[in-house]
Parts: sequence; C-alpha cells; structure tokens
Amino acid sequence: MNPLRIALPLLACAGFVAAPVAALADGDPRLGRLYYRSICTDCHVAETGSGIAPNQKTIAEWESYLDTDRHDAGGAYDGKVSDFTSQAHRESIQEHNRVAERFLSVDDDQMFANVRTWLVSSAKDSDNPAGCD
Ligand code: HEC
Repeated sequence: MNPLRIALPLLACAGFVAAPVAALADGDPRLGRLYYRSICTDCHVAETGSGIAPNQKTIAEWESYLDTDRHDAGGAYDGKVSDFTSQAHRESIQEHNRVAERFLSVDDDQMFANVRTWLVSSAKDSDNPAGCD
C-alpha cells in the first residue's frame, strides 16, 4: 500500500502541528498517537461517523477510564480497552491494517502504555490538547 494513504490522514490531524510532548512515564506518545489514530479512531469513525478525540476528556478522566479498562460498557464493543491494544487484536486485523502489522512485535503492556501516554498527554487540560476532527 502507498505509505501516503496512511500519512495524509495523519497529517490532517492536529497532533502533528502541536509542539512535541515530553515522553510521560513509560509510554511513547508518538507511537501511541499513530496507533490510536490508525486502529482506535479507524473503528470509531467506521462505527459512529466520528472519532473520539483526546481533548474530549481531561487528564483525570483518561486516567480513570484507562485504569478501569472497560470499553463501550453495555454497547456492541463492551470489553477491555486493552484488548484493542493487544498483539492478538493486531494479528486479527494485520491483513488490512498496516500499522497493526508494523507493531505486531510490541508487547501488550508497552502498546497500552503508548496509547495511554498519548491520550493523557493530549487531554483537554494538558499542555498539548489534540483533536482529530
Ligand atoms: C472494533 C471497533 C472499535 C475499536 C477497535 C475501538 N473502539 Fe472504542 N468504541 C467503539 C464504539 C462503537 C464505541 C461507542 C461509541 C459511541 O457510543 O458513540 C467506542 C467508544 C470508545 C470510547 C468512549 C467511552 C466508551 O467506552 O464508551 C473511548 C474512550 C474509546 N472507545 C477508546 C478506544 C481506544 C483507546 C481504542 C483502541 C485502543 C478503541 N476505543 C478501539 C468501537 C471501537
């Protein structure tokens, strides 16, 4: 696949123009951003017509949400948030998702930490709030 098909939608997102954020704790926010936008947002847009931007929640709300690790409670995708950052999930979508394929070897905890760091560091009350739509 042409790499521009991944790069162009990402460049359209506000995160690329924000100042670089300091790496928080154990996650890499750049990898978390790429993962969130290519795997999480991909489904949010497909299912609901719009993404869920990091700046829709505060730092405390993201931390609580990710600590609880419950996704779409009562909905069609009720389960753990961390199921969607797992290697098993990446394997299941790798054929049609280049980012999932690229990150196959990253272990579950590290990928969850990457996404967490991106969301928390881009929250509405962070230094670099990030939207995507
Ligand atoms: C296979 C589809 C799919 C994937 C993959 C997915 N989500 Fe979701 N997510 C949904 C749906 C559907 C909703 C409900 C949206 C609504 O009700 O408007 C949702 C809702 C959410 C919400 C709003 C709060 C909630 O739980 O209802 C957050 C935050 C969220 N997802 C985070 C994530 C993160 C982080 C990832 C990736 C690690 C992810 N999602 C991957 C489908 C998905």
